[in-house]
Amino acid sequence: MILGRLTWGLLVVAVLSGLALAPFWSAARPLESLETLTGATPWGFWLRGVHTVSSWGFLAGTIAHLVEVLWKKADTRLPRGVWWRCVALLPVTILALLGGFLMRGDAEAQAALTVWREVSTSIPFVGRALAALLLGVPGSDLAPVALHHAGTFTLLAWLLTAEHGRALVPDLRSTVLAALGSFAVAGLFPISLGPATAPAGGLLLGPWYLLGLQGALLHLPVTAGWLLPLFLLAAVGLVRHVEGRWRSMLLAAAAAWSAGYLAFTVRLLLAAR
Ligand code: HEM
Repeated sequence: MILGRLTWGLLVVAVLSGLALAPFWSAARPLESLETLTGATPWGFWLRGVHTVSSWGFLAGTIAHLVEVLWKKADTRLPRGVWWRCVALLPVTILALLGGFLMRGDAEAQAALTVWREVSTSIPFVGRALAALLLGVPGSDLAPVALHHAGTFTLLAWLLTAEHGRALVPDLRSTVLAALGSFAVAGLFPISLGPATAPAGGLLLGPWYLLGLQGALLHLPVTAGWLLPLFLLAAVGLVRHVEGRWRSMLLAAAAAWSAGYLAFTVRLLLAAR
């Protein structure tokens, strides 16, 4: 499937551009280091754009590919274990992207860090330890976040994609195509950074792919932050275990979930205007 190969090409571009960005980023002064990169380093804004655009493309491609596979019932050709690991690519990708968002260190990233810590801590038994492992202890710098962003989640995303693609690297054509697309979009649409502190009375928005969850959390208890995604993953994962009416019911539940997510996203965007 061409979409799957292109998506993998985007992951390669994200990793290579991430490695090129790393020397410019400081865990102790994240926002200042990125402002220097985008404002005072030749091609800095573009390099940052390539990384962001390719990562967003990787997420969008992963979702589109998943929908395509379910639509064509191609999941039935995969062993169950492989299917669950394909589904796991979705949260791994979101966590990789979220880590990158936190690394901006602007007011929106700081607010997202607080919310993410609260959501992680609300997971019974392991939550507090998990939050400390992924985000460091409160008040620490962003080094643990960066480590998991560039290390743990990048490696996991690569391994899961490689198993699914049955090769260690994607083909050259898809990678070149993904790179050229990212280069062009990054040049056309510069990615801005937010303010260092929250503007008075303004609503701070998280990353675009988590707006639905942010919107839901305005009305639901904090445990919804992990329970809602878990529900979707369980529905999509279990699709491989059933057939006929049960399959349709699980897919309908996943579709209803996605529609609700979209509605919360739109609602939040309207409230933020
Ligand atoms: C070796 C691997 C990687 C390294 C060294 C790396 C490094 C970085 C650095 C230094 C930043 C902060 C700069 C900025 O915000 O523009 C960043 C941000 C980001 N990274 Fe990575 N990264 C890597 C892999 C990935 C992967 C695999 C993804 C996604 C699939 C990803 C997604 C992002 C995103 C979405 C941002 C935030 C961009 C923004 O909103 O400004 N990165 N990364």
